[in-house]
Parts: sequence; structure tokens; C-alpha cells
Amino acid sequence: VKDLNGIEQVVLRNPQGASVTVSMLGARVTSWRNSHGEELLFTSSKGTVKAPKAMRGGIPICFPQFDNCASPEQQGFARNKMWRIDENPPPLKQRNDCLGKSFVDLLLKPSGDDLKCWPHSFEFRLRVCLAANGAITLISRVRNVNGKPFSFIFAYHAYLSVSDISEVRIEGLETSDYLDNLCKKERFTEQDAITFESEVDRVYLSSPNVIAVLDHEKKRTFVIRKEGLPDVVVWNPWDKKCKGMADVGDGEYKQMLCVDGAAMEKPITLKPGEEWTGQMEISVVESTLCAEHLDLEVPR
Ligand code: BG6
Repeated sequence: VKDLNGIEQVVLRNPQGASVTVSMLGARVTSWRNSHGEELLFTSSKGTVKAPKAMRGGIPICFPQFDNCASPEQQGFARNKMWRIDENPPPLKQRNDCLGKSFVDLLLKPSGDDLKCWPHSFEFRLRVCLAANGAITLISRVRNVNGKPFSFIFAYHAYLSVSDISEVRIEGLETSDYLDNLCKKERFTEQDAITFESEVDRVYLSSPNVIAVLDHEKKRTFVIRKEGLPDVVVWNPWDKKCKGMADVGDGEYKQMLCVDGAAMEKPITLKPGEEWTGQMEISVVESTLCAEHLDLEVPR
């Protein structure tokens, strides 16, 4: 299936009618719908999908650096590259590998331009899975095929669609330390569940692997489970910053919340031949039970 700009996309569907759409541009999940056809990810109404820069929203992959030397855009070149489908993905062995789910594997290898900017050879395999219960799982595997070690940062930059940011609470990060990007990356300790009354841009460090995003107006909870990703980035630009962003409509900040499973604070280092795996699953519960009822403390 092609999008409006002729860029190939893959659509996964489950028998219950849920779907996930992944664009070859950036291997970005551009849509995730539940079995009623309702969109669960935010995408900007002003989004322009024009290579090499993709639309705002969905779940872009941030890799391998903060600054992209090839363009002013931050958070790595992987999100603006054309990936390809692996028609012969490796066999599924474990539950972690999406056994029993529909999935697609996308691959990225650096081009000559990428190597000028970030001179390390890698192979990146992203597996996107859709489960029978509608949950989406993203599994990234990065292999060092270089002669020397290299280090990288990583994030699943998930733009969740919410009814109204003022009605949203994040549970599971209470007591975590965070770096506040709005305060020169100063370190603080969270005291409570997170609610939103102004711009938030934080990196929660070495945080629990299960967190919940409760949308009280929609009576919906996103449950996020991560593995191999120590940090969680929480970001909402609020009204002022939103007005300054050309690809977001005024007021659209109310309908979005970025919650990223990430390895940001301490880069991942891979020796030659080594492979790293980072996984994030997002499932939806159509209720806003508090965290203890959602088994947040219980790792899978
Ligand atoms: C967040 C960062 O993760 O992403 C913010 O913490 C940043 O500082 C934002 O502005 C940008 O998102 P995008 O999709 O434009 O890269």
C-alpha cells in the first residue's frame, strides 16, 4: 500500500480488525487502530510526508545520535531513511519474537552519506508485531558490523493520541530520577504520578519497565512495557512551543503525549559483532483503573 506521497507502507491486521501501518520512510509506525477502527497514535493534521523529512507523529525511531549532522533535524538519521522489508525474516523462536502475531521486519544499513556523518557500519532490524489483543510490539536489533566499537542513543518516540492532555496521568514513574530538558538537564526526583499543566520535557532514568498512561476522559489506559530500554522520555510541548512548530496545528498539543522507551542518558556501546535488542510493547485497556489493579509492578 502506498501513502499519499507514493511511499510504500505495510499494513498489519489481526482477525479482530485492529491494524498497524508502517512506512518504509523511517520505519515509522504511522497508524495504530483498535478493532473499532479508532486511531491510537497522534499524527499532526499539518503533517507533510515528504522525503527526506517525515510527518510529525506516529512512532519514529530515534537512532543513532542526538544531532543529525546531515540536516538540522535532531535525534538521528534513521527516521528519515528509506528502510526495506526483509522478505525472509529469521525464524520466530520465543514469545518475545512475536510468535502467533502478525509481523513485519524492516532493515536499515548505512548509506555512504550516513557513514560520512556517523562513521560506523551497522545492521538495524526492526520487527513490528500486532497481537490478537491489538497490542503493538516493536523489537529493534542493532548489530555492529564495524571493525571497532561504537555507541548510540535510541528511542521509540511514541506520540500517543489522548483526549485532552489535562485529563492524562502517567503512573509508574513515581520516585524515578529525571533530567529536566527545560532546566538545563538538571536532575530531580519525581514525587508523584505525572499530570500536565504546562510544557514537560523530561528523561526519566533507569525507570521501571511497566508504566501506564491513563486518559480519564476516554476512560482508556495505555500500558507500556519495555525491555533493554532504561529510560523513558515524557514530552508535551504545550501551547507556546506548539505555536512555533510549523507542522503542528495550534492547540493540537492537547491531543498528543510523547512517551518514549529510550536509551538516552547512557549511550549503548557495541563491540564488533555484538548485537543489542530494545523492545517496547503498548497495549490498551479500555478503563482507567489505578496502577495497582493493572499489575504495574509485575514484570512479565
Ligand atoms: C522529545 C524531546 O523527545 O522530542 C524534545 O524531549 C523534542 O526536546 C521532541 O523537542 C521533538 O520531537 P520530534 O518528533 O520533532 O523529534
